[in-house]
Amino acid sequence: MGDIFPEESRRWRLLEGRAVSAAVRFGYGEIRTPLVEPTALFVRSIGEDTDIVEKEMFTFPGSGKKYLSLRPEGTAGVVRACLEQGVFARDTLARYFYLGPMFRRERPQAGRRRQFHQFGAEALGSRHPALDVELIDLLRIFLDESGLPGWSLAVNSVGCPECRPAYRERLAAYLAGVEEKLCDNCRRRRSANPLRALDCKNPACRKLVKAGPKPLDFLCPDCASHLAEVQDLLTGLEIAFSLDPLMVRGLDYYTSLVFEVTGPGLGSQDAVAGGGRYDTLIGELGGPDLGAAGFSVGLERLLLGLAEKEIPPAPDPLGSLYLAGIGPEGFSAQFILLSRLRRRGFAAVMDYAGRSLKAQMREANKLQVERVLIRGPEELSSRTVRFKDMESGKETTVPDNEVISSLLRCLTSRPEGGQ
Ligand code: HAM
Repeated sequence: MGDIFPEESRRWRLLEGRAVSAAVRFGYGEIRTPLVEPTALFVRSIGEDTDIVEKEMFTFPGSGKKYLSLRPEGTAGVVRACLEQGVFARDTLARYFYLGPMFRRERPQAGRRRQFHQFGAEALGSRHPALDVELIDLLRIFLDESGLPGWSLAVNSVGCPECRPAYRERLAAYLAGVEEKLCDNCRRRRSANPLRALDCKNPACRKLVKAGPKPLDFLCPDCASHLAEVQDLLTGLEIAFSLDPLMVRGLDYYTSLVFEVTGPGLGSQDAVAGGGRYDTLIGELGGPDLGAAGFSVGLERLLLGLAEKEIPPAPDPLGSLYLAGIGPEGFSAQFILLSRLRRRGFAAVMDYAGRSLKAQMREANKLQVERVLIRGPEELSSRTVRFKDMESGKETTVPDNEVISSLLRCLTSRPEGGQ
């Protein structure tokens, strides 16, 4: 665990400012959960047969027979908090971000600490592939604006309760056939949690796993189409990625899409960020059957990747927007516009649930945005966007290729001339 002195903490504050700035533009509000949670929460969510739960948690007795642990990650605590506060009954889509320390009893080395810090984002309440891509877009914007050079994104699907059992069975059978060549860890977990072998760093295990069955070959139609749609939307936003059929994550709550970002020049600890869907976790912890996804970035690793580079201070958002549309025809165009507006500095959200225009306007009102940008069938065919100023109720129509320049003009023509 390390101490941070002023010459370094200045960089930390700049980086945290960048995280807040990006998260706010994507409609994510800050959540702060305790550093300590019941151990049982991590066992149930991260999984009993994972490195984190097996050997990396700082655990101590609480009251009665209960044990408590310093949080090794943030997702489980966020879901627990949402369940306790009844968030899922109120919000159709809850978006949160967090910044703070996590604790894992790992062997310390460059980029690996026992107390480390994450910037994380969680979006709970939807299975729409746009949510996965929105999270990846948020991550991209944060990394780019912080100045990290040459990072790369890999995605994969680990399947769901529908398709994973068949894959697990096939993998377990394959591993049984090569058992004597596996490392002790993989041999021990071979039947309880065979997927962990995909993650093993032992060169002999890696070679065996490469030649074995892959999750992608077993995906059910839902998981396969989810992965395909995510790839399409990523391409639409010009986010470069590779498909890594051997990627599984070190936590068991993932379903369907998973992703990882690696940075160059970071040696063996080059995973800067990781995340994915956890569509069954809310239900497993006693809540409704709702989809969710998220990611976390390791800030120590990001700082290592930035080396001596100056981190630019984050500006305030330029204004708040809601992008409303009717019907699925214009979805991908609207999603691309959403990403461009966020990158340009606006706080902006749109509906992923296919709700009516009326319901979307109600949501925009609730969010107290400054402007709604409406693009229904009429606007789509005339290649325009209708702006509604939520304070004055005034509407104007602009060509869709002039949306950003018109918004910037509105900003500079305000009486106070500022934000
Ligand atoms: P994770 O992959 O375990 O995912 O951790 C995310 C990032 O935290 C890693 O990519 C790495 O940069 C950093 N990290 C992990 N362990 C250490 C360490 N010992 N020292 C320094 N940095 C470290 C999660 O934690 C999930 N909760 C991500 C997530 C959020 N999935 C869905 N929502």
